[in-house]
Amino acid sequence: MTSRRQMLTQGAALLGASSAGLLLPQTALAQSGKIRVGFMLPYTGTYAQLGVAIENGVRMAINEQGGKLGGREIEWFKVDDESEPSKGIENANKLVQRDKVDVIIGTVHSGVQMGIHKVARDSGVLSLIPNAGVHAATRALCAPNVFRTSFSNSQPTMALGETMVKRGHKKAVWITHKYAAGDEAFEGFRDSYTKAGGTIVKELGLPFPNVEFQALLTEIAALKPDAVACFFAGGAAAKFMKDFAAAGLKGKIALYGSGFLTEGVIEAAGPAAEGVMTTLHYADSLDTKRNHEFRLAYAKTFKMQPDVYAVQGYDTGLLLIQGANAVKGDLSQKPALYKAMEGAVIDSPRGKWTMSKAHNPVQDMYLREVVKGENKVLGVAVKALADSGAGCRL
Ligand code: BEZ
Repeated sequence: MTSRRQMLTQGAALLGASSAGLLLPQTALAQSGKIRVGFMLPYTGTYAQLGVAIENGVRMAINEQGGKLGGREIEWFKVDDESEPSKGIENANKLVQRDKVDVIIGTVHSGVQMGIHKVARDSGVLSLIPNAGVHAATRALCAPNVFRTSFSNSQPTMALGETMVKRGHKKAVWITHKYAAGDEAFEGFRDSYTKAGGTIVKELGLPFPNVEFQALLTEIAALKPDAVACFFAGGAAAKFMKDFAAAGLKGKIALYGSGFLTEGVIEAAGPAAEGVMTTLHYADSLDTKRNHEFRLAYAKTFKMQPDVYAVQGYDTGLLLIQGANAVKGDLSQKPALYKAMEGAVIDSPRGKWTMSKAHNPVQDMYLREVVKGENKVLGVAVKALADSGAGCRL
């Protein structure tokens, strides 16, 4: 039998635990402190500039709403992932296990994303992908707690092939950094280009982040295709366009790309970028009130021009705000949080977009051309393009 003394002692212990917050229901606990938001992005290396633009975009969206999420203050955490896949799991665990973040925002590089993805699936932490397009994240390995606000790697190039053939470029060479992003971008290009009647005469590649293009450009010159199509981004994209021009190919062989080729690097590439045509879910010159206002506010705040990465970061912020508002800041209410994010319509500078069942944007793809240092939109190449989501059972 329990003695009165034992009951009193247990009662006091319970009181102590409850006043220390240990026995509060999970929801009350979750709402009492700050929301912990972790950025895992590249802040060094070829993709450093992309990481900065994404973080700027996220912060801008949240600051526009008073700097809170569902009424709660935010505590920020940051890890530089260096675009290094071998450190992906370890870096994601710094945020999840050490810093105990409620949400992880990252990353840029598809290989690193797979590390975050494993940690997100194992821990159940909310994972928002602001760039990396790796197919598995929203196809066979999709997960209820993982949402992408950017694109799948084959989405931009699905819009490229037909455009090139229509413009009379029927024989093409493909060139890329050899890793998931480039290989999956090739899938979209191959399918759309060959379906439209084009022939791919050669696939060329080099390991990421190598930028020694010379031997490959010599091979392209010898092959004499009508056009070159490619996937490069960040510092490598600027160097590729410059080396292409320096090799004497500009003006002789048309240069096309997945739109990352000309994002955030037009100034660095200089005249070599003029006339380059690409397909992407954003263009600087989109003539909408939303885009004009966004560009103005971003330039004023960060003293630099926004690009697609800044837009993706901004949209990540918008999605998180919608989710957090729906659960009044209590991110532990997972079914309600996910439902709100699944049903979100994001009013983005790129145009309105929605989430597919597999948690990837359904969005318009634009044909763009670099004119006087800007990505000018020539038209919509594909309307409301969705990734296949193959193998996802959400
Ligand atoms: C990727 O690795 O998924 C990626 C990197 C830069 C731009 C686009 C995609």
